[in-house]
Amino acid sequence: MCTQRLGGASILGIGSAAPENVVTNRDLEKLVDTTDQWILGRTGIRERRIGPEDMCTSDLCEKAALQALDHAGVAPSEIEMVIVGTTTPDFIYPSLASIVQHRIGAPTGGAFDVQAACSGFLYALTIADQFLRTGKYEKILVLGAEMPSRLVNWDDRASCVLFGDGAGAAVVGLSDDTSRGMLSSCLGADGSTWKMLYQPAGGTRQPIDAEGLEQKLNKTRMEGNEVYKVAVRTLLAMANGALEEAGLTIDDIDLFVPHQANLRIIDAVGKRLGLDPEKVFVNIDRYGNTSAASIPLALREALDVGRIKEGDLILMDAFGAGASAAGVVLRW
Ligand code: UT7
Repeated sequence: MCTQRLGGASILGIGSAAPENVVTNRDLEKLVDTTDQWILGRTGIRERRIGPEDMCTSDLCEKAALQALDHAGVAPSEIEMVIVGTTTPDFIYPSLASIVQHRIGAPTGGAFDVQAACSGFLYALTIADQFLRTGKYEKILVLGAEMPSRLVNWDDRASCVLFGDGAGAAVVGLSDDTSRGMLSSCLGADGSTWKMLYQPAGGTRQPIDAEGLEQKLNKTRMEGNEVYKVAVRTLLAMANGALEEAGLTIDDIDLFVPHQANLRIIDAVGKRLGLDPEKVFVNIDRYGNTSAASIPLALREALDVGRIKEGDLILMDAFGAGASAAGVVLRW
């Protein structure tokens, strides 16, 4: 369902973080039966960042959050709520958001995670937008953070080559310039597809036991072809929904920032939307699929390399397990 908004949440500052450890396709050739040529040709990925054993998702969150706060010129004490989009928190509970709040020294306001898989950042941004519009809060920290490397079955060549670790954070608030901020948000999910991408054991349906561990049921299961088809369809639907609700057409958009899952998916969606390839932001080659972190990671990089200027219209578009999906139009 789509809801029209005007002058909503602005990104006042943005930060990102990724582990230093780079794993190239050549490195993966030594691990599973794959080739650099296959991975690059089928996905557009050259390398990804994989965190060391002693790293957890909140380590990446803290770094990204402090960078975002610094960029916004906002102190941790001004943050009234923390929302993290994640599928790979430090623990099943408490929330990653609670841990991040404590680690950055934010006040004890609301803090919670949003589990919408790769669409988590856009879902979290949409929730923050609602709290800002009602006047309930003025500054909210929104993150997308993941360590998919922890859930990947490193024996499964069809999925292990795709993912990477990372985090992105945005300080959001209402801008004095009412033309800035979120113009529309379109959210979706299709629960009937849940089996195409999931972690079989570790939840209440199948608590983890020795047999489950043996069968690696605590690791990601994915039907790649099915995900691919659903991805293209839902990304198009969400982008068009968000554009329509904002009263815009694709020609108005200055930069398209899609979830970075597969370069072929991004190209197919860009083409069907009728987008000039110059307006599509891609960094999957260096990070792989960082799930909920991919859009804020891309936003920070786009800003750093001068691809986003004040007043630009940005279309963000995501899909993921569940099959969650989201499209957001924002005037920077
Ligand atoms: O955020 C959402 C997360 N998931 C996704 O975004 C996944 C979306 N899906 C995809 O990106 C693609 O479906 C994949 C990249 C996962 C797979 O690409 P594909 O073009 O759909 O390949 P395929 O699954 O049809 O496999 C083609 C062949 C198969 O061999 P045969 O049966 O043709 O002999 C696979 O076994 O490629 C083989 N294959 C590999 N070969 C070398 C699968 N993975 C690999 C690999 N290296 N890593």
